[in-house]
Amino acid sequence: VVSVPATLHGAALVLRAGALADLGAVVTARADGASRGVVITDDVVAPRWAAAARAGLGPLPVDLLEVPAGEASKTRETWAALTDRMIALGCGRDTVVVAVGGGVIGDLAGFVAATYHRGLPCVQVPTTLLAMVDAAIGGKTGVDTPAGKNLVGAFHHPVAVVIDPATLGTLPRRQLRNGLAECVKHGVIADAEYLARVVAAAPTLADPAQPAGAAMLDVIAGSVAIKAAVVAADAREAGRRKILNFGHTLGHALETASAFRLLHGEAIAVGMVLEADLAERLGVATPGTADAVRRAVRAVGLDPTLPRDLDPEVLLALTRTDKKARGGRVEYALPAQVGTMAGSDTGWAVPVADGAVRSVLAAARER
Ligand SMILES: NC(=O)c1ccc[n+]([C@@H]2O[C@H](COP(=O)([O-])OP(=O)(O)OC[C@H]3O[C@@H](n4cnc5c(N)ncnc54)[C@H](O)[C@@H]3O)[C@@H](O)[C@H]2O)c1
Ligand SMILES: [Zn+2]
Repeated sequence: VVSVPATLHGAALVLRAGALADLGAVVTARADGASRGVVITDDVVAPRWAAAARAGLGPLPVDLLEVPAGEASKTRETWAALTDRMIALGCGRDTVVVAVGGGVIGDLAGFVAATYHRGLPCVQVPTTLLAMVDAAIGGKTGVDTPAGKNLVGAFHHPVAVVIDPATLGTLPRRQLRNGLAECVKHGVIADAEYLARVVAAAPTLADPAQPAGAAMLDVIAGSVAIKAAVVAADAREAGRRKILNFGHTLGHALETASAFRLLHGEAIAVGMVLEADLAERLGVATPGTADAVRRAVRAVGLDPTLPRDLDPEVLLALTRTDKKARGGRVEYALPAQVGTMAGSDTGWAVPVADGAVRSVLAAARER
């Protein structure tokens, strides 16, 4: 499947099992004039997929730049090391950056591409489900600093996003479920029918024997379309893009409070259930919304329960440090029902007093 959706900011989208083989053609079509490439990847992905990516790039001269896997590599220091390597290699404006890996590599390599020689063309090749349906879509790139995640970065839209679901064949199942949390989110915020397809396909999706089956392609395509449409409607995050934060206000608090024992998707799975509860309690969501979210979270193999060891007051305090706090109330992206978000008249964010969140957390601890 090769297309240039109007909603992907001019980026070409290639989505098919085996798409790594198309990389050379994609570079020719979308980064015309590139006479060399750098593949940026991590040391877990490299032994599995770098050779296939290189082969796909064909006769293009390519240097492989590898960083240690994990969030700890998403720093200004790694950015400096990568750009220093490229300077030493003599890379000029004729270089295309090919990011092969999860969201860490996509953000980091995307930021290298955004800044090197004031901007090089970048091809995003996401190899985790989370990166396929979320991180590689929308043009955000950047690095973390000791003060917080993603504090230094740039918008830099890739010239192409090449998604090869076959790469999911080597992804640990826990990481796959991590990405499915974002697929559930996309269904809840925009498309009840899509959510039903994700839930129905869940048993097949988790099957490592068919990482690139038709169901997986459908789930990825649906999520990419939803995220791309939301971003296209609001490229600079003035309003509607806020709906992508559903589950993330409490989710980020859970991630931090658990000292990152919970993966991002595991935390937002719980966050979505809690925030849907909150929406019902506030009379924003129709009754049954939270149950539907809970069922979907369970269906994709994620745990909807609030871990007992996390202190509600600590969670509350963490929501207030989130950048979404305004005038003593924290803003939440809340559903009106599955498939529709509330707040179209108030900038897609609902200010919520601490008391309501306290009640929801207390009730969740009772369950
Ligand atoms: N730019 C955005 O809009 C955006 C959106 C969401 C998340 N993000 C960022 O994405 C990052 C998280 O992304 P992630 O969850 O992909 O994490 P990740 O990049 O750390 O990948 C998770 C793990 O899976 C490994 N891996 C990747 N592909 C593999 C494969 N095919 N087979 C085996 N192992 C593989 C990686 O080496 C890593 O150890 C965070 O830094 C987050 O801030 C960015
Ligand atoms: Zn997320």
